[in-house]
Amino acid sequence: MILSPEGVRVFPEASIETMTNTDNLIRAKGLIASAERVAVLTGAGISAESGVPTFRGKDGLWKNYRAEDLASPEAFRKDPGLVWEWYDWRRSLIAARQPNPGHYALVKLEEQVPAFTLITQNVDGLHDLAGSSHPLKLHGDIWTVRCTRCTYTDINRQTPLPEIPPRCDCGSLLRPDIIWFGEALPEATFREAWQAAESAEVFIVAGTSALVQPAASLPLLAAKKGAKVVEVNLEETPLSPHSDIVLPGPAGDVLPQLLA
Ligand code: APR
Repeated sequence: MILSPEGVRVFPEASIETMTNTDNLIRAKGLIASAERVAVLTGAGISAESGVPTFRGKDGLWKNYRAEDLASPEAFRKDPGLVWEWYDWRRSLIAARQPNPGHYALVKLEEQVPAFTLITQNVDGLHDLAGSSHPLKLHGDIWTVRCTRCTYTDINRQTPLPEIPPRCDCGSLLRPDIIWFGEALPEATFREAWQAAESAEVFIVAGTSALVQPAASLPLLAAKKGAKVVEVNLEETPLSPHSDIVLPGPAGDVLPQLLA
């Protein structure tokens, strides 16, 4: 910070600390409006206003288990019934929810931007339901199941499941088609997300704690390649200091305001 001759505080360049929310909104909106290539990374926070609990928020625990204790191959091996009970609970909860204005704003943004990529860590399917054409699902889909032994995989929207843990016709256990902690992300999907991050002019990050890798590295990659990073979140995250613009607030309020 420097002092002007009049003794008034002026800032050598705009920064998150010095700009008001309105200034930031206008600036972010301007960046998006003039960008040819925009990528967006969403996390559980974008579905929070639809009533889907986040993983690390105050409602993130299920029966005192953390997501990390249940979403892993080890947990499934140890107690597939318990893991499926958690997914059955989440599936029933999500089935009753609808997309919110945050999801719909991203559908509109896709229409507005020439090259638009939506990358999501969410498995709830609400981006599809809102009408996003091709969300890159880094962590899979809660509505798809696959056999742990044979090649069977299918969409399954039954809630609640009649049998827990559910089994395949071959007799083996079915599992949710979700990427668990310690498992590799779908290669082609992650490559597409990586390329979008590398080429984006603006990278929007909405409703993620930015703690889970490799998703959390995408905005940093985008920034390194020259993109402006815009973060929308209720709270500060490890990504906030690396973002060009931080827009504090609920995604369902903020994202619609970024549209042209
Ligand atoms: N608007 C914007 N942000 C919100 C809102 C909201 N209405 N509600 C909550 N948030 C923010 C929280 O402040 C938090 O930073 O959303 C974030 C949610 O963080 P997490 O629960 O950690 O969810 P996410 O980042 O998606 O988790 C990543 O971890 O458990 C795994 O595979 C799971 O995909 C998930 C991954």
